[in-house]
Amino acid sequence: MALHAKKPSRVSSGFLAALLFVVLILVMAIFERGRSLALAETPSVHGPWMDKTLSPDRRADLVLQEMTLDEKIALLHGNGMPGWPRAVPHANPYLGNGGAGFVLGVQRLGIPIIQMSDAAYGVRSSGENGRYSTALPSNVAAAASWDVQAACAYGALIGRELRAQGYNMSLGGGVNLTRDPRNGRTFEYMGEDPVLAGTLVGDRVKCEQAQHVIGDMKHYALNDQESGRNEVNAIIGKRAMRESDLLAFQIGIGIADPAAVMCSYNAVNGDYACENKYLLTDVLKKDWNFKGFVVSDWGGTHSTEKASAAGLDHEEPMDDFFGDKFKQTVEAGKIPTAELDDHVHRILRSEFASGIVDDPVKKSVVDVEGGLEISRHIAEQSIVLLKNDRGILPLDRAKLHSIAVIGPNADTSMISGGGSAQVDPPGHGATKWKEHVWFPSSPLKAIARKTPGATVEFDSGADPAYAAALAKRSDVAIVFAYQWTSEDMDLPNLSLPENQDAMIEQVAAANPQTIVVLETGTAVTMPWLNAVRGVLEAWYTGSQGADAVANILFGEVNPTAKLPMTFPRSEADLPHPQLATPPPEERGRRRSGEAKPTFEVHYDEGLKVGYKWYDAANKPVLFPFGFGLSYTTFGYSGLRVSTGSETTIGFTVKNTGSRAGEEVAEVYATLPASAGEPPKRLVGWDKVHLNAGESKEVSVPVKTFYLSIYDEASDSWKLVPGTYKFMVGGSSQSLPLVENVNLK
Ligand code: BGC
Repeated sequence: MALHAKKPSRVSSGFLAALLFVVLILVMAIFERGRSLALAETPSVHGPWMDKTLSPDRRADLVLQEMTLDEKIALLHGNGMPGWPRAVPHANPYLGNGGAGFVLGVQRLGIPIIQMSDAAYGVRSSGENGRYSTALPSNVAAAASWDVQAACAYGALIGRELRAQGYNMSLGGGVNLTRDPRNGRTFEYMGEDPVLAGTLVGDRVKCEQAQHVIGDMKHYALNDQESGRNEVNAIIGKRAMRESDLLAFQIGIGIADPAAVMCSYNAVNGDYACENKYLLTDVLKKDWNFKGFVVSDWGGTHSTEKASAAGLDHEEPMDDFFGDKFKQTVEAGKIPTAELDDHVHRILRSEFASGIVDDPVKKSVVDVEGGLEISRHIAEQSIVLLKNDRGILPLDRAKLHSIAVIGPNADTSMISGGGSAQVDPPGHGATKWKEHVWFPSSPLKAIARKTPGATVEFDSGADPAYAAALAKRSDVAIVFAYQWTSEDMDLPNLSLPENQDAMIEQVAAANPQTIVVLETGTAVTMPWLNAVRGVLEAWYTGSQGADAVANILFGEVNPTAKLPMTFPRSEADLPHPQLATPPPEERGRRRSGEAKPTFEVHYDEGLKVGYKWYDAANKPVLFPFGFGLSYTTFGYSGLRVSTGSETTIGFTVKNTGSRAGEEVAEVYATLPASAGEPPKRLVGWDKVHLNAGESKEVSVPVKTFYLSIYDEASDSWKLVPGTYKFMVGGSSQSLPLVENVNLK
């Protein structure tokens, strides 16, 4: 009877659903038509600028001569993004690809639309495209590999997947230094050292661009905290910034020759980064000879004339200042044509140099299997073994009968980093802003696969007493602890959220055979450290995280990663124990061109970022920069420093343990006292593969520039004559080889 009564409404709801479905298909078809228009190959054009034998600069000049003022202005701004409050009226129909921005091309001259997508650790916005992207380990994880080949594989994968999804410009390449580990975007950057971060971001972007996409480095510069990022004015001395944050960009740009650099939201020494002449023109374009274009962060443009004169080439995501206003200012003679043409030239040049004109993007299918393989391999090289008391790891499966897998979602998935970097997990659809996104990579299943003979049980840890009881009846407890971070927020502190510290303490008290696997985007404090036997820093591990972790836990892979940032003992030891925050009325304001700097952060620690700060202040740390254990051990001997036009550091590394492994051998230098520098700086490294008992001679060339200081008086880099101490070893605090040499 009840069934009968419901019948009519079932029919009508079924009909409604069918109708809705048809409407949905129609709407999608209309959108898809817009998109295919956007992606359609620009008709073949036979101008002299299509001659591939000419230089990108020459080709840009030749097109530029043909362009009208309106066509030039069209290249200077974006045309909106999904969800942005106002759309540009003349960009109709919507020609975007669902990404963060797009720039109209010049069809009649064969200049394609630039389709941009965020791509920090994988291609974002794939969900909106109904497509799939590989999530790589977060950028800070990739930095922990200290591996230039891994950085290259990382960039190449993103470049391929961008193109497969119809994008020809990447917004990845974050390289702000970890000046404060509470910065919510630390996971998107490459750690605290300019030489390490700059080298790795350089290799990443170089290989990304080799796939024929426009590569980008960001956020230039000193966007080192997210709190009040649109209102904060970062105050810092010239030498300090040149030897820290700017040096990372300088090195990266030198390696990759990126087509674009994104200026940041914050102000630096009074001027917004996107209208800061010192940053954009004096340093980036003149001193570093950057040939690409400067793109504003989204809503980070604050003026027309001032920004243009300072060196901003392109506004995103709209045309508030670089559209009609720009045209009127040119027509009024307030922006010289040469200045306009320089912006346009830089954009065109980048399009030719990156290959997006000669090799237009065509949508295709992402290599899912290949991507998973690369993601897992990089994760395995990124996971840092922080503690291995009495060799509890690798776990011996022959001796394990019962394993407790504990932690939030450890039965199903692993956490990822949020904000514009967020990659949509398969089957999830488009993720929401600041959603905690867990990737379907199950630690429980990965561990169970390794141990078919053992009982593997799960507890979420929500009730620590349950978790402790499970740990007590198991041979070993593996706790997966997480910390979620995102763009547009900083962490209030470095503690694990959700009572996880107390949970770990209770688990370890119930069973000392406890191993903690950290899924974090930055450093965390570890009040339970002495109570547990093992700790792995797995970071945000990407699509294949659980398998990578399991391979390390059970010894299929010998860990090789080293920390690219210091883990402090407490927030009290940071250069700024209290984060600078905006005045209350400014909090939560939406980014916009009208924002004004309303508060300052004084980076008085200057160039002493990360270990340089702790070294100089003589503060003990939880885990030092460059630290990471292996399942084997290494010995160092025979330091030889040779000087000349370049300094070369030679030494021998020996695998003194009983299994093959890889050692990141680090070289630091102490400058002469008169240089007034912190106690040491990283100047080079090598990653050496060694079989058990094997020795290898290693030779690390050190650029004179890496030994120099920035001299404000002459605005140049100078080598201070005197005694240099070179130190070599396996972490910034374990440097057994030392030699002093005199350099002139
Ligand atoms: C972020 C950029 C990002 C842009 C586009 C901004 O909020 O700071 O890193 O590329 O949005 O999504």
